[in-house]
Amino acid sequence: MRTLRAADLEAVAGMFDRLSDTSRYRRFFSAGAAGPRRELAYLPTVDGHERVALVAVVDERVVGLARYHTGDGGSADVAVVVEDAYQHAGLGRRLMIELARAARRERIDVFAISVLSENAPAIRLLRGLAPDVGLGLDHGVYEAMVPLLAS
Ligand SMILES: CC(C)(COP(=O)(O)OP(=O)(O)OC[C@H]1O[C@@H](n2cnc3c(N)ncnc32)[C@H](O)[C@@H]1OP(=O)(O)O)[C@@H](O)C(=O)NCCC(=O)NCCS
Repeated sequence: MRTLRAADLEAVAGMFDRLSDTSRYRRFFSAGAAGPRRELAYLPTVDGHERVALVAVVDERVVGLARYHTGDGGSADVAVVVEDAYQHAGLGRRLMIELARAARRERIDVFAISVLSENAPAIRLLRGLAPDVGLGLDHGVYEAMVPLLAS
């Protein structure tokens, strides 16, 4: 697990291509190519402070990505994805824990993350990190607020 590098973008694109329709939909809220394309345009803007991205790498293949960008009032918007073949091995949790460490160094107190209400794995992941995570349901999407000091 390490910080995203510019040279990783092709490998990240490869991971997005390997995602199942379900994982792509849960990550981008649509099954098409627009979500991955937007993310690949966004990732070069990470700066290691206000915008941080971590990758999980196996044999030079990127298999997971977690990233945040700071929002208002000491919070940061977060997204995380692990490719299907590597799910259920603790990678999502480890990526989130490392991302939270990086965020706390930047004095971020809360991760805000949007999760489809049917996305049980992501909700379990968030509850595992912060049992008192706040979940507000809005049109089928949980807007979860994860307090970092408790994670
Ligand atoms: C949500 C997501 C990131 C979780 O990633 P993950 O790597 O599977 O997460 P973890 O492995 O840390 O935890 C998942 C489960 O595996 C279990 N697990 C962890 N390590 C394990 C191990 N060594 N052996 C067996 N099971 C293990 C965990 O207990 C957890 O079980 P639970 O869901 O019953 O509580 C992944 O499902 C994903 O990419 N989904 C699509 C994108 C998405 O939904 N993103 C969230 C919105 S941005």
